[in-house]
Parts: sequence; C-alpha cells; structure tokens
Amino acid sequence: MGPGLWFLLLVPAGLGAAARSAVPRTERLFPEVQQMVHRFSQEAISNYSIFLVAPQTRTLYVGAKNAIFALPLESVNQPAKMISWEVPKNHRDSCTRKGKKEAECHNYIRILEFADESHLFTCGTFAFDPQCGFIKVANFSSVERQESGRGKCPFEPTQQSAAVMVDDVLYAATVSNFLGTQPIISRATGNLEERIRTEMSVTWLNDPVFVGSTFLRGGESGENDKIYFFFTETAREYDFYEQVRVPRVARVCKGDLGGLKTLQKRWTTFLKTQLICLDPESGTNFNLLKDVFTLHSVNGTSAVFYGIFSAQRWVPFLAPAGAH
Ligand SMILES: *[C@@H]1O[C@H](CO)[C@@H](O)[C@H](O)[C@H]1NC(C)=O
Repeated sequence: MGPGLWFLLLVPAGLGAAARSAVPRTERLFPEVQQMVHRFSQEAISNYSIFLVAPQTRTLYVGAKNAIFALPLESVNQPAKMISWEVPKNHRDSCTRKGKKEAECHNYIRILEFADESHLFTCGTFAFDPQCGFIKVANFSSVERQESGRGKCPFEPTQQSAAVMVDDVLYAATVSNFLGTQPIISRATGNLEERIRTEMSVTWLNDPVFVGSTFLRGGESGENDKIYFFFTETAREYDFYEQVRVPRVARVCKGDLGGLKTLQKRWTTFLKTQLICLDPESGTNFNLLKDVFTLHSVNGTSAVFYGIFSAQRWVPFLAPAGAH
C-alpha cells in the first residue's frame, strides 16, 4: 500500500508536552477504535491534502495531487469517483524553467469547499500558478469555470494557508505572490467591490504561517457574523535580539465593506490578539500554533477552539499583546 489517508487519526494525550519533538511521548492504542479505521489510497496518487464531508449525501471529498475524489462515507475503502485535474505539459515546463523542482510543478489541491447547493469550489497550486474552479456535485466529472487562484490558494505546495466559505463567498489567508512574500487575508471571491484585504504591512501580518480559519454566526441579523484566522507570526512588540514567534487569532466581520477615505478596499474590522499556551510548572511557552479545530455549538453561534501548540525552544513568556 502506498501513502494513503487515514479516515480517523489518533492523537496522543499530553499534546503540548509531546509536540516538542515529532515523536510522541506516550502512545496508547485502542483496539476497538483500530477496528474502525478504514484506509483509502489510489494507485499513482499521492499527497492527500484536504477533505470535506457532505453529511446529507454521506460523501467524503478528498483533494490530493492532481486529483479530487468522492467517496461514500460508509465505505471509504471502495473504488472512488475521481476527477483528474492536471497541469498541461507546456505549463509544467514553464514552471521548471522558472527554477522550480519538477515535483512542485503539479496541481496540489488546497481548497475544497461547498460553493452552493449543487457545486463544490476547489483550488490547487497548479504549478505555481494557482487556479480555482467549480465541480458540479451531481456529475463529479470535471473542474469548470476555471479562474485565477491568486490570493485564494498558495503558489507553493508546502506553503500553509487557510480558507473558509461563508454564504457562497471565500475568505482566504495565504500569500498573493510567486515569491511567497506577501501574506494576505481577504474576501477573495464574490462582488469585486467587496473584495477587501489586509494592508501589506508587517503590523498587520508579519511572516505568518496560517493554520486554520472558521466562521461564527453572531445571531439572527447577521450583523455580528465573524471570520477567524489562526496563525503564528513574528512579534513586533518585543525588541529582542532574536525573532520571537507568537501564536495569534485574527478576526474580521462579515459585514465589513472597507473604508471610505482611509482603508479603502482594506478591512476596517481587522483585530488580532495573542494566544497563550503555557506550562506553568516548567515555564515552557508553547509559542507555535500547529493546528486548530473548531467545535461548533448546535445553533452555530458559539464554539470551542482546540489548538495544537509546540515550543520553538525556550522562549520567554510574553504577556498578551492586546488588539491591533
Ligand atoms: C508529496 O508526497 C511525497 C511522497 O509521499 C513527499 O515526498 C512530498 O514531500 C510530498 N509533497 C508535498 C508538497 O507535500
């Protein structure tokens, strides 16, 4: 069996302490859970990167390198429906001519979201020229209406990013240039006039590594609907000899339309603050956010965030930075 995708992942207890090295400190096996683990992998396909569950149709969608799958939830190890979404040869050649490795000049699927009732929205790195498109769920045969994925999806397969679809509009945290030097959080699709983003300034985002995003409804009216982005970035508020990385959460309001005179086409509701994961006994500050999971309440208006942190090395504990 080649590299595949586990439908169920077991995470060892004592996450914070174990995360310092890649080897878990403790490991516990649950035989009854192991029986439930199903494995899926397809010949010649690698780099399974993202998945999306459609509870109504009991379908699991999986994005990989050059391919997207639809699997029945009940039998993920059965033959799957597959869409092949490859980069044309001439396009791959021009990618390698720009000095990129052949392995990087493929289409690594990075975004898979529900666009509307009948379509999925997907984006891939497309040989350092990110592309997005729609998949008609009923047919599941091709990626249609292809458009540029710049500002939505990373260029580079290893670059971390985050995206969430809210009321048919994509909110994305990624980099917007080939060199990967311009981080951006934006409303990336929908009406052109409503496409607003972060300022290109280190006070907004300073070398961030994005790990996740989530949407929270703020009540019936929709006025308090907010989108959250989780990342680790370099702190600017501490003047140390070495760079200090800090875990953060940023939020923007769904109703934000940008400023009129200042902050035109920029968020006017962007706030960020520091997350803290500290072991008081050892004084270890787990300052790198590795992943985040949001557990929504039934009505969707409140949530609990679970984060996985690790420690860069010994770093001094820093008080919360306050809002931007
Ligand atoms: C893709 O998978 C191959 C083989 O498993 C691995 O060596 C490579 O690092 C992966 N690439 C990315 C971008 O994840």
